[in-house]
Amino acid sequence: MRLENETALITGAASGIGRATAERFAAEGARVIVTDIDSDGGERVVAALEDEGADAEFHDLDVTDSEEFHAVVGAVAGEYGLDVIVNNAGTGHPSARLEDTDESMRDFVIDVNVKGVWNGCHAALPHMKEQGRGAIVNVGSLASLLGLPKQAAYSLSKGAVLNLTRAVAAEAGPYGVRANTVCPGFTDTSLLEQYLAAQDDPEAAREEMAAEYPLKRLGEPEEVADAILFLASDEASFVSGHGLVVDGGFSTC
Ligand code: NAI
Repeated sequence: MRLENETALITGAASGIGRATAERFAAEGARVIVTDIDSDGGERVVAALEDEGADAEFHDLDVTDSEEFHAVVGAVAGEYGLDVIVNNAGTGHPSARLEDTDESMRDFVIDVNVKGVWNGCHAALPHMKEQGRGAIVNVGSLASLLGLPKQAAYSLSKGAVLNLTRAVAAEAGPYGVRANTVCPGFTDTSLLEQYLAAQDDPEAAREEMAAEYPLKRLGEPEEVADAILFLASDEASFVSGHGLVVDGGFSTC
């Protein structure tokens, strides 16, 4: 098993990609620390993991709250050590031109998507450096690489995630800590559902979206979780500062 005897903390793990990652990590032998602002959802994920015989626990954690992040990471690292952190929690925003996006929406997206990842790195790095090992996987997006129309705030935030991760990789590498980004294309989660629900014809929008992908479908959260697992595991022991694109080929054509 690829994460045997390892402890992994995942943010935003109550649903979607975070939940799929928690399930994947548990199947690979990790103790999984499920965190989210959705306590009911997070507790349900933990209960399901425990039913499968996994070692899992839930911590209420809003990634925008640096103090809370440090407290949760400190408690987990103090008790078990911290081998992996997946900074996955993220948010989108309704499609809008830059000039129609108000500052509060921009700041909200930056707070969750950028400061949330920053807070996770800030909290985890001292423990990982002290251990002399650790893997950080930050969840970016295709919008880390491409500027998406009517998604300026999201593109701004996800571009920042990719470059922040590179800086972390450069700084933390000498301490045995790796940092990578996974950059998913459209993936079938509640975040995507929210985006589609705001379109005039959500089903037609979904079909149009899928048609643009060489594989003619959207991604599944488990497919992103597999990429996160690779980056978190020793199979990626010489991979750091990388942005792994999981988009069914969309960005290459
Ligand atoms: P999701 O909506 O299914 O899951 C997001 C989770 O994050 C939820 O459980 C939510 O409660 C939690 N969350 C939101 N704000 C939080 C906060 N402040 N603190 C802690 N938890 C918080 O969405 P999905 O798709 O699984 O998103 C996960 C990550 O994947 C996000 O960073 C997103 O930007 C990224 N992503 C998603 C894509 C997609 O098409 N679904 C494509 C590219 C990237």
